[in-house]
Amino acid sequence: MPLSDCPNCQGSGWIIAQRSGVTGAKRCDCVLVAQQQENWANAGIPPLYENASLDNFVLPTDNQVATRNLQNVMLIVRGYAKEFPAVDKPGLLLIGEPGTGKTHLAVAALRTLISRGFSGVFYDYQHLLQSIRSSYDPTSGSTDREAYATALDAELLLLDDLGAHRITDWVEDTVTSLITYRCNNRKPIIATTNLSDPDIAGAGRAAATGSGREYGRTLADQIGMRARSRLFEMCRVIRMPQVEDYRFRKARIS
Ligand SMILES: Nc1ncnc2c1ncn2[C@@H]1O[C@H](COP(=O)(O)OP(=O)(O)O)[C@@H](O)[C@H]1O
Ligand SMILES: [Mg+2]
Ligand SMILES: [Zn+2]
Repeated sequence: MPLSDCPNCQGSGWIIAQRSGVTGAKRCDCVLVAQQQENWANAGIPPLYENASLDNFVLPTDNQVATRNLQNVMLIVRGYAKEFPAVDKPGLLLIGEPGTGKTHLAVAALRTLISRGFSGVFYDYQHLLQSIRSSYDPTSGSTDREAYATALDAELLLLDDLGAHRITDWVEDTVTSLITYRCNNRKPIIATTNLSDPDIAGAGRAAATGSGREYGRTLADQIGMRARSRLFEMCRVIRMPQVEDYRFRKARIS
């Protein structure tokens, strides 16, 4: 669909152009722009992150080590989003403490990818599992029914807060089949998690704050070994540096 108010094609989507003395019609660039806008609108980005981009990702100024480490992470995310799909691993896994900017960076990567013509969808892990579970109920709405299919087939899947749900056999089977299907079809996942992992030194923290019972649980504990290992196969794993929770940092400097 072209942009209806495009000054170049007057909404027709075509431009009459001369090339080597021959007059012909070519697609107007606004068709691509309109497609990107539609892809962004369909990505389901939560309002809190709708403006999150690499351009407004702020580096700390009071700690040189933190600045450098966070800048490295930002550059890796930028490189991935610019070079995809010509990257070693098709996905990204951002692992680290809450408030370090994981979801911000994941959305920023998706924004860049959508601006390059890809499409993708954001799912909060907890909500996705709830939607899939509700979809078994015959009275469920169409959004719930479509959630699993969308998460399986979306060109890019942003899975936020992976593992933030009580593990049951059903959760483990569901997340394993989702990740395995996407992995087998080389469909990327961009995931974030607060959970720790023994292979990623110093990353993340104990699962599920507020629930002492789950204290100390790792990503593998929360999604199962198989899902965790497929995820590591398909994703470049990025450990977030230890930086102050951005919400506190912002409150302090503003
Ligand atoms: N370095 C940063 N620059 C700008 N905003 C940030 C930065 N880090 C986090 N934020 C913002 O702070 C809030 C919390 O960050 P978020 O990405 O949700 O952290 P996490 O997912 O690691 O818990 C969000 O509104 C996010 O946009
Ligand atoms: Mg987050
Ligand atoms: Zn146009």
